[in-house]
Amino acid sequence: MIANDLSQHDFRQIARWLYEKTGIYMNDSKQPLVNGRLQKRLRELQLTNLSAYRKCLMADENEQQLAINLLTTNETYFFREPKHFDFISHELLHAEQKQRGWQVWSAAASSGEEAYSIALLMAERYGLASSWQIVGTDINTQVLNTARRGIYPIQAAARIPQNLLKSFCVKGKGKDEGWFMFKPALRDHVTFTRYNLINGPGLGQSFDLILLRNVLIYFELADKQRIVQNVLSNLRPGGWLLVGHSESINGYDPRLQTVRTGCYRFMP
Ligand SMILES: C[S@@+](CC[C@H](N)C(=O)[O-])C[C@H]1O[C@@H](n2cnc3c(N)ncnc32)[C@H](O)[C@@H]1O
Repeated sequence: MIANDLSQHDFRQIARWLYEKTGIYMNDSKQPLVNGRLQKRLRELQLTNLSAYRKCLMADENEQQLAINLLTTNETYFFREPKHFDFISHELLHAEQKQRGWQVWSAAASSGEEAYSIALLMAERYGLASSWQIVGTDINTQVLNTARRGIYPIQAAARIPQNLLKSFCVKGKGKDEGWFMFKPALRDHVTFTRYNLINGPGLGQSFDLILLRNVLIYFELADKQRIVQNVLSNLRPGGWLLVGHSESINGYDPRLQTVRTGCYRFMP
């Protein structure tokens, strides 16, 4: 074994720590992944083995956040799983009459693409002067910083419908060449904050729509169920919960009615 490799003992200690902190479950098959992702940090700290890193991790809260930032999987893109956005646009925003603006929670927001995709649909339907609001949360502080900036590589815009891009985004110029950003008036409707899904009991707000997409896959069954309960305590009666297409929560709660793949209505 080379010196920098994580021994099984160190791996299991780190995996246990990660599980206790975040609920993310990593079995022994994830050892190479964890090893690879932590190497960067090891080099920065000039540590020669991961056993030393483990000790440093256990003793330092800041290091723990850095490790969470490295160990979470943050893949996301604009309008990911487009059927959900068709559903939101056609079935929810154009069908439901609302007295006040939609309150939406993107509960594993990563770098913000999901939250801004919803914001674009809201802006198209209701304009920027009305009172809809999107809250994005994640446990990874690094991706949240990207989300707050609201500036993305121009290639990422390829997934955004042209009319929405034209109306609500601005192409970067000069030093911002190659990037695009959301107009400030749209960004004003979107906020981001750190929140750990496993901690419960949610944000203490009542949302009309919650997206909990492509995050449940990282948890064990009992924790998935707990997280869904936490999230439901923040969903208004008649509100909507969306999970990833491959993350069925059928049977988790009798108050949830399946409407489409990954789309549930909360009917207490
Ligand atoms: C694969 S991304 C999904 C992003 C987006 N929802 C989508 O579908 O494109 C999963 C996100 O869940 C976050 N996450 C993992 N465990 C979490 C926890 N315990 N609390 C909050 N966020 C968590 C990760 O940091 C990551 O950004």
